[in-house]
Amino acid sequence: MEAAGGAGGASGGGGESQPPKTLVDWALEILGTADPDEKARLGDLAATEWLRGAIPLPYDPSRPARPPPDRPARSAAVRLLPPSRAPKLGKGGSAQSRLALLHSLAHTESWAVDLSWDIVARFGAPLRMPREFFDDFARVAQDEGRHFAVLSARLRELGSHYGALPAHDGLWDSATRTSHSLLARLAVEHCVHEARGLDVLPTTISRFRAGGDEQTAKLLEDVIYPEEITHCAAGVRWFRYLCLRSRNGDPTASSIPQTITQCSELPRDGTGDIHKVEEVEGDGPKAELAQASNGDDKTVQQVEDELAKCKLVDIGDDVEAAVIRTFHSVVREYFRGPLKPPFNTEARKAAGFEPAWYEPLAVKEVEGQAVE
Ligand SMILES: [Fe+2]
Ligand SMILES: [Fe+2]
Repeated sequence: MEAAGGAGGASGGGGESQPPKTLVDWALEILGTADPDEKARLGDLAATEWLRGAIPLPYDPSRPARPPPDRPARSAAVRLLPPSRAPKLGKGGSAQSRLALLHSLAHTESWAVDLSWDIVARFGAPLRMPREFFDDFARVAQDEGRHFAVLSARLRELGSHYGALPAHDGLWDSATRTSHSLLARLAVEHCVHEARGLDVLPTTISRFRAGGDEQTAKLLEDVIYPEEITHCAAGVRWFRYLCLRSRNGDPTASSIPQTITQCSELPRDGTGDIHKVEEVEGDGPKAELAQASNGDDKTVQQVEDELAKCKLVDIGDDVEAAVIRTFHSVVREYFRGPLKPPFNTEARKAAGFEPAWYEPLAVKEVEGQAVE
């Protein structure tokens, strides 16, 4: 891979005629990089360059976007096992169990790197998301890469390495299930899963501490935990944004999942569902990409203006309630089973993820009745 993001930037590497390398180009390259260390390093470079303004465009509206891979490249050095055969981690009572826990955490962080770049590459251009969307997920991706790097380094300090143990091969399943809908992706991966991480992390930290591994406990507590709160916050923020953009009349998207309109009472000019666009347009996501790519600066500006119109905070109670109903509808459709308490209410609240968003999802609905 060329050092395109180096000091200058963002050129596509090669001759003068190459178009500037966009953040989405970077995201695609990172998703196609198998080596986990290189994946994290490139992600850090891309995010740094983007956030300092050295990459001029999130995507190039003048050329058709390439879709991201269905499944990101992964190193063959890490043996993946079906979830049913994934090794038991134990409760950290032994050095071996703590090593397995650490390995599993590093594995999850590496997938989180891919997840962050996938949302940028898959949804950013087709849905003409504003720059702040790219800012947020570049930051998230950078954090996840750092988390992987520190945990991987800690494994090496303990005489092991990432890839020394087999790993769970189910972590991309829910990304696949939500690959056609940004609303679903945000709800399931960036709200529900990130918040679940906040729920379990304090126990994991205490297990390392109780086992005498204060160094790993401090890494999790001081570096990873506070940043995971911001990841959940990004999920909530952009879920709310999409809902509000839909209410205000989205200039690019043309449909919203049926169940969402039924359950949320949001208007039907919604946004976020690429699969529905495929059905409506008849030519699939490529048609939507091409359609989006033909937009001129005015159209892009329209979308930028939407962000300003869609206030991300201080919306009315009725609107917030409709957003939350949409969230419930999406999670019930795309997340299997009820959410599992106990919840880390404090950390979730710090992310703007209030109990009204998730508590009704902690019970299973059977024929209209709530069941524990
Ligand atoms: Fe992380
Ligand atoms: Fe995260």
